[in-house]
Amino acid sequence: MLEVRDLSKSFGGLKAVGNLSIRVGQGEFVGVIGPNGAGKTTLMNLVTGYMQPTSGDILFEGRSIVGLKPYQISHRGVGRTFQVVRPFSEMSVEDNVMTGALFSGAKTSSLAKARKAAELPMELTGLAAKRHMHAGALTLGEKKKLELARALATAPRLLLLDEVMGGVTRGEVDDLMVVLQRIHASGVTIVMIEHLVEVIMALSKRVVVLNFGQKLHEGSPREVVEHPAVIESYLGRPLDAEVA
Ligand SMILES: Nc1ncnc2c1ncn2[C@@H]1O[C@H](COP(=O)(O)OP(=O)(O)OP(=O)(O)O)[C@@H](O)[C@H]1O
Ligand SMILES: [Mg+2]
Repeated sequence: MLEVRDLSKSFGGLKAVGNLSIRVGQGEFVGVIGPNGAGKTTLMNLVTGYMQPTSGDILFEGRSIVGLKPYQISHRGVGRTFQVVRPFSEMSVEDNVMTGALFSGAKTSSLAKARKAAELPMELTGLAAKRHMHAGALTLGEKKKLELARALATAPRLLLLDEVMGGVTRGEVDDLMVVLQRIHASGVTIVMIEHLVEVIMALSKRVVVLNFGQKLHEGSPREVVEHPAVIESYLGRPLDAEVA
């Protein structure tokens, strides 16, 4: 479904992503981990057209998407969330989700259609009961759900998540994990950047570890957290058995 081929992105002398190749098959739930500054968000910005690669190629469903604008990549079926949430605070939850549908291409060009398209994303994320609330009044965990719902309203087949769990409470993490499982079960392929290793362990079948813009290791969650180079560069110490 997604193929990143020998991708590089330099900022001046800094190679944020270097000769990176990753493949994601339809229906997968892939985790991406790595230390701060490893290039995870840059990778996501490259795939979604927010940044242009210095070299390399990105194919979605067999066609190159390099050079396309973010909205064109969204129309092709790639959705994303942002590391820092930014809802339209003065607008209702429902209207926020509708913006996703309205800007997702010609299919939902009317308000009535957008309202209908917002329904399933609100159900999947558990926000339907809060549809009339101002987005600004939501907790951070709920804002993360809103971010997910808005992305889902663009009808993505592939969804890229940048630290959905960042900064939310323990209870909200559990809640969001259920939501992500539901989204995945609905047929959406997911690539998730996440610092909480136990979340990656619970949700993804395959993990890619980035370090200095390169692939340090790739494998099952269990294999990855036991890999010496991953422990040294990222985990700092072996995971507790009970957490793993
Ligand atoms: N627009 C930019 N201009 C210059 N340097 C950048 C830019 N965006 C990212 N970088 C640099 O590229 C490297 C990778 O950053 P990136 O944000 O992709 O890391 P990350 O893995 O997402 O980190 P974190 O876990 O902290 O979110 C860092 O050294 C960062 O400072
Ligand atoms: Mg980041």
